[in-house]
Amino acid sequence: MTTATSPAQTAAKIPAQSPDWAARFSDRMSRVRASEIRELLKLLDQPDILSFAGGIPDPGLFPAARIQAGYDQVLADPELSRQALQYSVSEGYLPLRTWIAERMALAGVDCDEHNILITAGSQQALDLIGKLFLTAGDTVMVARPTYLGALQAFNAYEPAYLDLPERALTDGVDIQALMAGRRPNPLGYFVPDFANPTGISLSLAEREALLDLAQDLDMTLIEDAAYRELRFDGEVSPTLLALDIARSGSIEQARTLFCGTFSKTISPALRIGWVCGPKAVIEKLVLLKQGCDLHVSTVNQMVAHRAVSEDYEQHLSALRNAYGAKAHTLLAALDRHMPPGVTWSRPQGGMFVWITLPDGLDGKLLLERSLAEERVAFVPGEPFFAEVPAANTIRLSYSLPTAAQIEDGVARLAGLIARSQGSRAPAAAS
Ligand SMILES: Cc1ncc(COP(=O)(O)O)c(C=O)c1O
Repeated sequence: MTTATSPAQTAAKIPAQSPDWAARFSDRMSRVRASEIRELLKLLDQPDILSFAGGIPDPGLFPAARIQAGYDQVLADPELSRQALQYSVSEGYLPLRTWIAERMALAGVDCDEHNILITAGSQQALDLIGKLFLTAGDTVMVARPTYLGALQAFNAYEPAYLDLPERALTDGVDIQALMAGRRPNPLGYFVPDFANPTGISLSLAEREALLDLAQDLDMTLIEDAAYRELRFDGEVSPTLLALDIARSGSIEQARTLFCGTFSKTISPALRIGWVCGPKAVIEKLVLLKQGCDLHVSTVNQMVAHRAVSEDYEQHLSALRNAYGAKAHTLLAALDRHMPPGVTWSRPQGGMFVWITLPDGLDGKLLLERSLAEERVAFVPGEPFFAEVPAANTIRLSYSLPTAAQIEDGVARLAGLIARSQGSRAPAAAS
């Protein structure tokens, strides 16, 4: 019996030589790297881990019934469903843009729907803004530490970073001198309200100082307002964009681009964020968005619009109460359990507390020990630094654990830190 050789079998005999992908990737990929911390955080899937790591919304607070009602309404109506399931304009769903513009106006940002672009979460807004403004080597000014996802978005555009320590804006640091020798017109990225990872907010004086600096350096500012709606304590501060408009006279003269999102207030799975800024910038961002993904899912935009159009304030106040209660539990537990030498931020909103460990303790090593010995997870601070990291830092998020877990987890973590300090002493002395 003869056996015929098929073309597939012939092809299979040629030794497979996979392309040298690394040599073919663009230069910009040298700046796009996975973090080693991701590997450690994969362990979080194990069920007995008590986690302060995930900086994500509490799923118990998702307005699932509203979202379901929204999909039902939109899809049951033949007219609406035709629109909801079709291609659409890159700017976004007009009623949603109008709703956002009206809400921005209530907070001192006089604007209309032409000043709003709907993006796939605020993460996409950061990427599009990076693409629009950054030529390789341009400076991005950020806080020290700053949001890791922003660094990931900007890194692909190969910037040089300048990171500002806490209080640099009001402590008389000569930031202009730090810009010496750099390209003009930096891009500034800040999270003025309850920042990720620190939970810290900029005071009014710092916001004004940042706008002074932006004016002096002719800097474009990105205001990332991801957590702004989650204030549970203290007084609301004006947005950078509102302060900017108060100075410059109108949004068209402003230099601040405000990035908002429904990820923390409705659901991150809808992937709906927005940029609010001068039309001249929005128009260019629209072009970039077209080349990227055409537009955000219209059905999701229609559902989000329905979700925010009814009782949104009531929903927000439930979120604020829930996150506020967890934050207070965490802060009280830290006060009770942490050994001397450990300090932490006291957020008035958002989802994060930033812990500074005594010098010589390393957040990454602490995480390894904490997972092995205490089954408690958190995120080491290192990846949140654009320049030189402070290794003795960690981020705790209180959004997911229950009050009892927070209490238990902090007690275990504090015990480990105390033991680590003890075991560090002989090494330091030798
Ligand atoms: C400060 C900050 N900005 C932006 C984002 C991106 O959120 P999204 O793309 O879901 O709007 C996050 C997500 O965690 C964040 O913490």
